[in-house]
Amino acid sequence: MTTTRVLTVDREHPEPGTVAEAARVLLEGGLVVFPTETVYGLGATALSARAVERIFAAKERPATDPLIVHVLDLGGLAQVTRALPEGLPALAAAFWPGPLTVIVPRHPNLPAAVTAGADSVAVRIPAHPVARALLLAANVPVAAPSANRFSRPSPTRAEHVLADLDGRVDLILDGGPTPVGVESTIVDLTGSPPRLLRPGGVAFEALRELLPGLMVVERYSAETFAAQAPGQFLKHYAPRTPLQVFDGDPEACRDAMLAAARQAAARGLRVGALAFAEDLEALAAGGLARLETLGSERAIEQAAARLFDVLRALDEAGLDLLLARLPGPAGLGLALRDRLTRAAEGNVTRLSSTAVL
Ligand code: TXA
Ligand code: MG
Repeated sequence: MTTTRVLTVDREHPEPGTVAEAARVLLEGGLVVFPTETVYGLGATALSARAVERIFAAKERPATDPLIVHVLDLGGLAQVTRALPEGLPALAAAFWPGPLTVIVPRHPNLPAAVTAGADSVAVRIPAHPVARALLLAANVPVAAPSANRFSRPSPTRAEHVLADLDGRVDLILDGGPTPVGVESTIVDLTGSPPRLLRPGGVAFEALRELLPGLMVVERYSAETFAAQAPGQFLKHYAPRTPLQVFDGDPEACRDAMLAAARQAAARGLRVGALAFAEDLEALAAGGLARLETLGSERAIEQAAARLFDVLRALDEAGLDLLLARLPGPAGLGLALRDRLTRAAEGNVTRLSSTAVL
Protein backbone atom coordinates (compact mmCIF):
# COMPACT_ATOMS: atom_id res chain seq x y z
CA MET A 1 0.00 0.00 0.00
CA THR A 2 1.06 3.50 -0.83
CA THR A 3 -0.38 6.63 0.72
CA THR A 4 -2.29 8.41 -2.04
CA ARG A 5 -2.17 12.20 -1.83
CA VAL A 6 -4.82 14.28 -3.59
CA LEU A 7 -3.97 17.85 -4.63
CA THR A 8 -6.59 20.06 -6.21
CA VAL A 9 -5.34 22.04 -9.14
CA ASP A 10 -6.85 24.87 -11.13
CA ARG A 11 -7.95 23.52 -14.49
CA GLU A 12 -7.12 26.58 -16.56
CA HIS A 13 -4.14 27.92 -14.59
CA PRO A 14 -2.51 25.02 -12.73
CA GLU A 15 -0.59 26.22 -9.66
CA PRO A 16 3.17 26.01 -10.47
CA GLY A 17 4.07 24.62 -7.02
CA THR A 18 1.57 21.78 -7.35
CA VAL A 19 2.72 20.97 -10.86
CA ALA A 20 6.39 21.01 -9.75
CA GLU A 21 5.57 18.58 -6.94
CA ALA A 22 3.79 16.22 -9.37
CA ALA A 23 6.74 16.42 -11.78
CA ARG A 24 9.13 15.57 -8.93
CA VAL A 25 7.10 12.46 -8.06
CA LEU A 26 7.13 11.39 -11.73
CA LEU A 27 10.88 11.89 -12.07
CA GLU A 28 11.47 9.79 -8.95
CA GLY A 29 9.64 6.92 -10.63
CA GLY A 30 6.29 7.50 -8.88
CA LEU A 31 2.73 7.27 -10.19
CA VAL A 32 0.83 10.51 -10.78
CA VAL A 33 -2.80 10.62 -11.88
CA PHE A 34 -3.62 13.74 -13.88
CA PRO A 35 -6.60 15.06 -15.84
CA THR A 36 -6.49 15.09 -19.63
CA GLU A 37 -9.26 16.50 -21.83
CA THR A 38 -10.56 12.94 -22.36
CA VAL A 39 -10.30 11.02 -19.06
CA TYR A 40 -7.87 10.92 -16.13
CA GLY A 41 -4.53 9.26 -16.92
CA LEU A 42 -2.36 7.13 -14.63
CA GLY A 43 1.09 8.48 -15.44
CA ALA A 44 4.68 7.35 -15.04
CA THR A 45 7.82 8.42 -16.85
CA ALA A 46 7.92 6.44 -20.09
CA LEU A 47 11.73 6.31 -19.90
CA SER A 48 11.84 3.98 -16.87
CA ALA A 49 10.82 0.34 -17.23
CA ARG A 50 10.49 0.08 -13.46
CA ALA A 51 8.10 3.06 -13.22
CA VAL A 52 6.04 1.75 -16.14
CA GLU A 53 5.74 -1.67 -14.53
CA ARG A 54 4.15 0.03 -11.50
CA ILE A 55 1.32 1.23 -13.80
CA PHE A 56 0.46 -2.34 -14.76
CA ALA A 57 0.54 -3.45 -11.12
CA ALA A 58 -1.66 -0.55 -9.90
CA LYS A 59 -4.29 -1.16 -12.59
CA GLU A 60 -4.02 -4.95 -12.51
CA ARG A 61 -3.60 -4.59 -16.24
CA PRO A 62 -2.17 -7.48 -18.29
CA ALA A 63 1.39 -6.77 -19.46
CA THR A 64 0.22 -7.54 -23.01
CA ASP A 65 -1.88 -4.34 -23.17
CA PRO A 66 0.32 -1.46 -24.40
CA LEU A 67 0.20 2.09 -23.01
CA ILE A 68 -0.26 5.50 -24.63
CA VAL A 69 2.71 7.87 -24.33
CA HIS A 70 1.91 11.56 -23.81
CA VAL A 71 4.27 14.24 -25.09
CA LEU A 72 4.14 18.04 -25.06
CA ASP A 73 4.80 18.73 -28.73
CA LEU A 74 6.25 17.39 -31.97
CA GLY A 75 9.75 17.77 -30.50
CA GLY A 76 8.75 15.36 -27.73
CA LEU A 77 7.47 12.95 -30.35
CA ALA A 78 11.03 12.46 -31.61
CA GLN A 79 11.95 10.81 -28.28
CA VAL A 80 9.23 8.23 -28.77
CA THR A 81 9.20 7.33 -32.47
CA ARG A 82 11.99 6.53 -34.93
CA ALA A 83 10.03 7.71 -37.97
CA LEU A 84 7.12 10.05 -38.68
CA PRO A 85 4.58 8.28 -40.93
CA GLU A 86 3.52 10.12 -44.06
CA GLY A 87 0.05 11.12 -42.91
CA LEU A 88 1.12 12.37 -39.49
CA PRO A 89 1.96 16.07 -40.05
CA ALA A 90 -1.51 16.80 -41.45
CA LEU A 91 -3.22 14.97 -38.57
CA ALA A 92 -1.02 16.72 -36.04
CA ALA A 93 -1.83 20.13 -37.52
CA ALA A 94 -5.56 19.42 -37.46
CA PHE A 95 -6.05 17.59 -34.15
CA TRP A 96 -3.11 18.20 -31.80
CA PRO A 97 -3.10 19.12 -29.03
CA GLY A 98 -6.26 17.08 -28.62
CA PRO A 99 -8.01 13.73 -28.18
CA LEU A 100 -6.21 11.84 -30.96
CA THR A 101 -3.71 8.99 -30.46
CA VAL A 102 -1.62 7.66 -33.32
CA ILE A 103 0.29 4.39 -33.58
CA VAL A 104 3.75 4.99 -35.01
CA PRO A 105 7.05 3.05 -35.19
CA ARG A 106 8.59 2.78 -31.73
CA HIS A 107 11.89 4.46 -30.77
CA PRO A 108 14.49 1.86 -29.70
CA ASN A 109 15.22 3.72 -26.44
CA LEU A 110 11.67 3.29 -25.17
CA PRO A 111 11.40 0.47 -22.61
CA ALA A 112 9.66 -2.57 -24.09
CA ALA A 113 7.18 -2.60 -21.18
CA VAL A 114 5.53 0.58 -22.54
CA THR A 115 4.50 -1.06 -25.80
CA ALA A 116 4.06 -4.58 -24.43
CA GLY A 117 6.97 -5.59 -26.64
CA ALA A 118 5.40 -4.24 -29.84
CA ASP A 119 7.52 -2.48 -32.44
CA SER A 120 4.97 0.34 -32.59
CA VAL A 121 3.96 2.89 -29.97
CA ALA A 122 0.80 4.87 -29.26
CA VAL A 123 1.41 8.62 -28.79
CA ARG A 124 -0.70 11.64 -28.12
CA ILE A 125 -0.26 15.38 -27.49
CA PRO A 126 -2.94 16.25 -24.94
CA ALA A 127 -4.70 19.61 -24.76
CA HIS A 128 -5.64 19.79 -21.06
CA PRO A 129 -3.72 22.64 -19.38
CA VAL A 130 -2.88 20.46 -16.34
CA ALA A 131 -1.53 17.63 -18.51
CA ARG A 132 0.49 20.13 -20.54
CA ALA A 133 1.90 21.88 -17.46
CA LEU A 134 2.97 18.50 -16.06
CA LEU A 135 4.64 17.43 -19.33
CA LEU A 136 6.47 20.77 -19.49
CA ALA A 137 7.68 20.59 -15.89
CA ALA A 138 8.73 16.93 -15.97
CA ASN A 139 10.26 17.22 -19.45
CA VAL A 140 9.89 13.47 -20.11
CA PRO A 141 7.39 11.50 -22.17
CA VAL A 142 4.67 10.23 -19.82
CA ALA A 143 3.09 6.80 -20.28
CA ALA A 144 -0.51 6.94 -19.09
CA PRO A 145 -3.43 4.58 -19.54
CA SER A 146 -6.83 5.60 -18.24
CA ALA A 147 -6.69 5.74 -14.41
CA ASN A 148 -9.23 3.01 -13.70
CA ARG A 149 -8.77 -0.56 -12.53
CA PHE A 150 -8.54 -2.93 -15.48
CA SER A 151 -11.90 -3.33 -17.30
CA ARG A 152 -13.73 -0.72 -15.15
CA PRO A 153 -15.27 2.43 -16.68
CA SER A 154 -12.66 5.14 -17.32
CA PRO A 155 -12.50 7.94 -14.74
CA THR A 156 -13.78 11.38 -15.63
CA ARG A 157 -13.55 12.71 -12.04
CA ALA A 158 -10.94 12.41 -9.29
CA GLU A 159 -13.54 10.58 -7.15
CA HIS A 160 -13.69 7.81 -9.77
CA VAL A 161 -9.91 7.49 -9.57
CA LEU A 162 -9.96 7.27 -5.78
CA ALA A 163 -12.67 4.59 -5.90
CA ASP A 164 -10.42 2.41 -8.10
CA LEU A 165 -6.85 3.33 -7.15
CA ASP A 166 -6.68 4.70 -3.59
CA GLY A 167 -3.54 3.27 -1.97
CA ARG A 168 -2.09 2.27 -5.36
CA VAL A 169 -0.81 5.59 -6.72
CA ASP A 170 1.35 8.31 -5.16
CA LEU A 171 -0.48 11.44 -6.22
CA ILE A 172 -3.77 12.47 -7.82
CA LEU A 173 -4.10 15.93 -9.36
CA ASP A 174 -7.78 16.81 -9.06
CA GLY A 175 -8.61 19.22 -11.86
CA GLY A 176 -12.36 18.61 -11.85
CA PRO A 177 -14.40 16.74 -14.45
CA THR A 178 -12.67 16.04 -17.77
CA PRO A 179 -14.38 17.87 -20.64
CA VAL A 180 -14.54 15.25 -23.44
CA GLY A 181 -15.37 12.32 -21.19
CA VAL A 182 -14.49 9.46 -23.57
CA GLU A 183 -10.97 8.38 -24.45
CA SER A 184 -8.98 9.52 -27.45
CA THR A 185 -9.56 8.22 -30.96
CA ILE A 186 -6.78 5.79 -31.91
CA VAL A 187 -5.51 5.61 -35.49
CA ASP A 188 -2.86 3.13 -36.62
CA LEU A 189 -0.53 4.78 -39.12
CA THR A 190 2.01 1.95 -39.32
CA GLY A 191 0.29 0.20 -42.22
CA SER A 192 -1.65 1.07 -45.33
CA PRO A 193 -4.47 1.92 -45.31
CA PRO A 194 -4.58 3.61 -41.88
CA ARG A 195 -6.96 1.92 -39.46
CA LEU A 196 -9.27 3.26 -36.79
CA LEU A 197 -8.52 1.11 -33.72
CA ARG A 198 -10.81 2.93 -31.27
CA PRO A 199 -13.43 5.62 -31.90
CA GLY A 200 -13.08 8.46 -29.41
CA GLY A 201 -12.93 12.21 -28.85
CA VAL A 202 -12.09 13.10 -32.47
CA ALA A 203 -15.02 12.20 -34.71
CA PHE A 204 -14.47 9.64 -37.45
CA GLU A 205 -15.98 11.99 -40.06
CA ALA A 206 -13.35 14.65 -39.29
CA LEU A 207 -10.52 12.14 -39.54
CA ARG A 208 -11.75 10.72 -42.81
CA GLU A 209 -11.45 14.15 -44.43
CA LEU A 210 -7.69 13.92 -43.96
CA LEU A 211 -7.38 10.12 -44.29
CA PRO A 212 -9.87 9.17 -47.03
CA GLY A 213 -8.76 5.52 -46.94
CA LEU A 214 -9.30 5.20 -43.17
CA MET A 215 -10.68 1.77 -42.36
CA VAL A 216 -13.27 1.27 -39.67
CA VAL A 217 -14.90 -1.94 -38.59
CA GLU A 218 -17.61 -1.84 -35.98
CA ARG A 219 -17.50 -5.45 -34.86
CA TYR A 220 -17.64 -6.96 -31.46
CA SER A 221 -16.27 -10.44 -31.33
CA ALA A 222 -13.44 -11.19 -28.93
CA GLU A 223 -11.31 -12.48 -31.81
CA THR A 224 -11.57 -9.46 -34.10
CA PHE A 225 -10.74 -7.15 -31.21
CA ALA A 226 -7.71 -9.11 -30.12
CA ALA A 227 -6.45 -8.89 -33.70
CA GLN A 228 -7.21 -5.19 -34.14
CA ALA A 229 -5.70 -3.67 -31.04
CA PRO A 230 -4.06 -5.40 -28.17
CA GLY A 231 -6.05 -4.52 -25.09
CA GLN A 232 -9.26 -3.74 -26.93
CA PHE A 233 -11.00 -6.57 -25.13
CA LEU A 234 -14.70 -6.89 -25.48
CA LYS A 235 -15.21 -6.73 -21.72
CA HIS A 236 -14.13 -3.19 -21.02
CA TYR A 237 -15.48 -0.13 -19.28
CA ALA A 238 -17.80 -2.57 -17.57
CA PRO A 239 -20.05 -1.85 -14.63
CA ARG A 240 -20.39 -4.73 -12.16
CA THR A 241 -24.16 -4.73 -12.69
CA PRO A 242 -25.14 -6.62 -15.89
CA LEU A 243 -25.96 -4.23 -18.75
CA GLN A 244 -28.13 -4.96 -21.76
CA VAL A 245 -28.07 -2.49 -24.65
CA PHE A 246 -30.61 -1.98 -27.43
CA ASP A 247 -29.76 -0.85 -30.94
CA GLY A 248 -31.98 0.29 -33.77
CA ASP A 249 -35.01 2.50 -34.24
CA PRO A 250 -35.36 4.59 -31.03
CA GLU A 251 -39.07 3.89 -30.70
CA ALA A 252 -38.56 0.13 -31.07
CA CYS A 253 -35.72 0.32 -28.54
CA ARG A 254 -37.94 2.06 -25.98
CA ASP A 255 -40.63 -0.59 -26.37
CA ALA A 256 -38.09 -3.37 -25.99
CA MET A 257 -36.55 -1.69 -22.95
CA LEU A 258 -39.96 -1.36 -21.32
CA ALA A 259 -40.70 -5.01 -22.01
CA ALA A 260 -37.34 -6.11 -20.64
CA ALA A 261 -37.85 -3.93 -17.55
CA ARG A 262 -41.29 -5.39 -16.88
CA GLN A 263 -40.05 -8.95 -17.29
CA ALA A 264 -37.13 -8.39 -14.95
CA ALA A 265 -39.30 -6.60 -12.37
CA ALA A 266 -41.71 -9.54 -12.46
CA ARG A 267 -38.79 -11.73 -11.42
CA GLY A 268 -38.15 -9.39 -8.47
CA LEU A 269 -35.14 -7.65 -10.03
CA ARG A 270 -34.37 -3.98 -9.54
CA VAL A 271 -33.84 -2.41 -12.97
CA GLY A 272 -32.13 0.85 -13.93
CA ALA A 273 -31.98 2.54 -17.33
CA LEU A 274 -29.52 4.85 -19.02
CA ALA A 275 -31.56 6.90 -21.47
CA PHE A 276 -31.47 9.92 -23.73
CA ALA A 277 -33.77 12.84 -23.00
CA GLU A 278 -35.89 11.71 -25.96
CA ASP A 279 -36.59 8.40 -24.17
CA LEU A 280 -37.55 9.74 -20.76
CA GLU A 281 -41.26 10.18 -21.21
CA ALA A 282 -41.79 6.68 -22.58
CA LEU A 283 -39.52 5.02 -20.02
CA ALA A 284 -41.02 6.89 -17.05
CA ALA A 285 -44.04 4.61 -17.45
CA GLY A 286 -41.88 1.52 -16.95
CA GLY A 287 -41.66 1.31 -13.17
CA LEU A 288 -37.87 1.47 -13.26
CA ALA A 289 -36.05 1.62 -9.92
CA ARG A 290 -33.73 4.23 -11.41
CA LEU A 291 -33.78 6.28 -14.61
CA GLU A 292 -30.71 8.33 -15.58
CA THR A 293 -30.30 10.51 -18.64
CA LEU A 294 -27.28 11.46 -20.73
CA GLY A 295 -29.23 14.44 -22.08
CA SER A 296 -30.41 14.78 -25.66
CA GLU A 297 -29.11 12.42 -28.32
CA ARG A 298 -28.74 15.52 -30.47
CA ALA A 299 -26.22 16.95 -27.98
CA ILE A 300 -23.99 13.90 -28.34
CA GLU A 301 -20.85 15.64 -27.05
CA GLN A 302 -22.53 16.42 -23.73
CA ALA A 303 -23.80 12.86 -23.59
CA ALA A 304 -20.24 11.58 -24.08
CA ALA A 305 -18.98 13.84 -21.32
CA ARG A 306 -21.52 12.34 -18.89
CA LEU A 307 -21.34 8.68 -19.93
CA PHE A 308 -18.81 7.19 -17.51
CA ASP A 309 -20.03 9.23 -14.54
CA VAL A 310 -23.61 8.07 -15.05
CA LEU A 311 -22.49 4.48 -15.65
CA ARG A 312 -20.60 4.48 -12.34
CA ALA A 313 -23.52 6.09 -10.50
CA LEU A 314 -25.92 3.45 -11.81
CA ASP A 315 -23.44 0.75 -10.86
CA GLU A 316 -23.47 1.97 -7.26
CA ALA A 317 -27.25 2.10 -6.99
CA GLY A 318 -27.67 -1.52 -5.90
CA LEU A 319 -29.50 -2.58 -9.06
CA ASP A 320 -29.66 -6.05 -10.63
CA LEU A 321 -29.91 -5.06 -14.28
CA LEU A 322 -29.13 -1.98 -16.37
CA LEU A 323 -30.71 -1.16 -19.74
CA ALA A 324 -29.45 1.38 -22.28
CA ARG A 325 -30.10 2.47 -25.85
CA LEU A 326 -27.27 3.04 -28.36
CA PRO A 327 -27.24 6.41 -30.13
CA GLY A 328 -26.69 6.69 -33.87
CA PRO A 329 -23.08 6.60 -35.10
CA ALA A 330 -22.68 10.25 -36.15
CA GLY A 331 -19.92 12.27 -34.47
CA LEU A 332 -19.10 11.08 -30.95
CA GLY A 333 -22.04 8.67 -31.27
CA LEU A 334 -19.59 6.11 -32.66
CA ALA A 335 -17.50 6.28 -29.47
CA LEU A 336 -20.60 6.02 -27.27
CA ARG A 337 -21.78 2.99 -29.22
CA ASP A 338 -18.37 1.37 -28.73
CA ARG A 339 -18.15 2.10 -24.98
CA LEU A 340 -21.72 1.01 -24.24
CA THR A 341 -21.36 -2.19 -26.27
CA ARG A 342 -18.18 -3.10 -24.41
CA ALA A 343 -19.73 -2.16 -21.07
CA ALA A 344 -22.50 -4.61 -21.96
CA GLU A 345 -19.87 -7.23 -22.82
CA GLY A 346 -21.57 -7.65 -26.19
CA ASN A 347 -25.09 -8.11 -24.79
CA VAL A 348 -26.74 -6.14 -27.62
CA THR A 349 -30.33 -6.59 -28.74
CA ARG A 350 -30.63 -5.45 -32.39
CA LEU A 351 -34.10 -4.30 -33.33
CA SER A 352 -33.50 -3.14 -36.88
CA SER A 353 -30.48 -2.37 -38.98
CA THR A 354 -28.84 0.96 -38.20
CA ALA A 355 -26.56 3.02 -40.36
CA VAL A 356 -23.19 1.37 -40.79
CA LEU A 357 -20.26 3.59 -41.69
O1 TXA B 1 -7.81 9.37 -23.94
C1 TXA B 1 -6.99 8.48 -23.78
O2 TXA B 1 -6.48 7.88 -24.74
C2 TXA B 1 -6.59 8.12 -22.35
C3 TXA B 1 -5.86 9.33 -21.77
C4 TXA B 1 -5.33 9.08 -20.38
O3 TXA B 1 -4.84 9.72 -22.64
N1 TXA B 1 -5.76 6.96 -22.32
C5 TXA B 1 -6.25 5.71 -22.59
O4 TXA B 1 -5.32 4.70 -22.45
O5 TXA B 1 -7.39 5.50 -22.88
P1 TXA B 1 -5.69 3.17 -22.33
O6 TXA B 1 -4.44 2.49 -21.96
O7 TXA B 1 -6.81 2.99 -21.42
O8 TXA B 1 -6.03 2.71 -23.79
C6 TXA B 1 -4.98 2.67 -24.73
C7 TXA B 1 -5.21 1.62 -25.78
C8 TXA B 1 -4.80 0.22 -25.38
O9 TXA B 1 -5.78 -0.52 -24.77
C9 TXA B 1 -4.42 -0.39 -26.71
O10 TXA B 1 -5.55 -0.99 -27.28
C10 TXA B 1 -4.07 0.78 -27.58
O11 TXA B 1 -4.32 1.92 -26.83
N2 TXA B 1 -2.65 0.74 -27.92
C11 TXA B 1 -1.61 1.22 -27.21
N3 TXA B 1 -0.45 0.98 -27.84
C12 TXA B 1 -0.76 0.33 -28.97
C13 TXA B 1 0.01 -0.21 -30.06
N4 TXA B 1 1.33 -0.10 -30.08
N5 TXA B 1 -0.67 -0.81 -31.05
C14 TXA B 1 -2.01 -0.91 -31.03
N6 TXA B 1 -2.80 -0.43 -30.04
C15 TXA B 1 -2.18 0.18 -29.03
MG1 MG C 1 -8.43 2.29 -20.56
